[in-house]
Amino acid sequence: MNYRATPITRPLRIGIVGGGQLGRMLTISAKKMGFIVAVTDPTPESPAGQVADRQIIGGYKDEKSTRELAKISDVLTVDAEFVNDEVLQKLEDEGAVIHPSPKTITVIKDKLKQKEFLTSHHIPTAEFKSVTSEKDVEEAIEIFGLPLLLKARTDAYDGKGNFVIHEKSDISKGLEKLKNRSLYVETFVPFTLELAIMVARNTKGEITTYPVVETIHVESVCDTVMAPASISPRAKKNAEDIAIQVVDKLDGAGVFGIEMFLTKDDRVLINEIAPRVHNSGHYTTEACITSQFEQHIRAITGMPLGETTMLVKAAVMKNILGEKNGDGIPEGLEKAEKIPKTFIHMYGKKESRPGRKMGHITVIGETIEECLKKANMARSFLVI
Ligand SMILES: Nc1ncnc2c1ncn2[C@@H]1O[C@H](COP(=O)(O)OP(=O)(O)O)[C@@H](O)[C@H]1O
Ligand SMILES: [Mg+2]
Repeated sequence: MNYRATPITRPLRIGIVGGGQLGRMLTISAKKMGFIVAVTDPTPESPAGQVADRQIIGGYKDEKSTRELAKISDVLTVDAEFVNDEVLQKLEDEGAVIHPSPKTITVIKDKLKQKEFLTSHHIPTAEFKSVTSEKDVEEAIEIFGLPLLLKARTDAYDGKGNFVIHEKSDISKGLEKLKNRSLYVETFVPFTLELAIMVARNTKGEITTYPVVETIHVESVCDTVMAPASISPRAKKNAEDIAIQVVDKLDGAGVFGIEMFLTKDDRVLINEIAPRVHNSGHYTTEACITSQFEQHIRAITGMPLGETTMLVKAAVMKNILGEKNGDGIPEGLEKAEKIPKTFIHMYGKKESRPGRKMGHITVIGETIEECLKKANMARSFLVI
């Protein structure tokens, strides 16, 4: 037999800035696919560091460790938008391959810039305005009315950078909570549902979307994700069309998580974009042909994108948030793991804290109701 090997031009070494749970699940997929993975994270034995080939100790914004990572990687990616986009831009200018593009990270990491970018492309969002003082917020109330959300422009997640202003007397409390941060306000959207959709684009420009899902937030933190969302065909089409429009306007390859509000007349507004894999896409690991993590690795390494179709009729993901300070491994794990078609993912974080994302549960099945019941049961068995 005349066998001739095809030369491999694909990157082999992937570097991830950030070693949290998203980095961990990206690493697990990349290792399954045969890549060599290094991560940076300030905490030794970080969630991703535990499964990667190598961890460089250093913060998400640390220039030295990001540069060191670039040196040992063929392609760089991120597990959060809170990275040093200026350093990434410099590295790209020096020839490093980085996905998503540092330009995209620069736009997205600042929620105000992100909203300006969306409106400049006529993509619907809540109304918004930059504010720097109490007087600015009062002026915004004159223009938009109440309630208003005061939001930190950067480094905000799990609702930690948000404050709802119901009445004028709340302004000072909000400014106190978010002091020393750049802020903006946006109008409160009276949504009927919160939706999310994962979109992938590879280095060749191919785009694919995952099913539209419904997300439920408790105290501004994602609690439950239901796939697919029970919405009208029109709402589904609006969500998909808008999500593709958004990604079309952004540079670079990778998976993007897009959070949306659905209004009672089936209109869709963008809440925010994540230039990375996302909590609302965790269900894809068990429920879709290609998980969001594998898809991201495919997208950034020049591979064709995988199919995004669901393998099952329904899936529910529930986050395991810490309830108290203590050990990172929950009590009751084995009992929860015995539930059929229920998958428990723990992130390897050493310590639990109230509200900290410690793991998640995905249940697959025939109906959302059945999955939801099992996911809630599994969660109720866990003490963490
Ligand atoms: N303009 C808004 N109108 C109504 N609810 C909002 C608005 N902005 C945020 N929220 C609620 O707060 C949650 C967290 O806000 P978000 O801006 O997505 O911050 P984070 O970056 O912390 O996820 C949202 O998922 C939603 O439930
Ligand atoms: Mg959000």
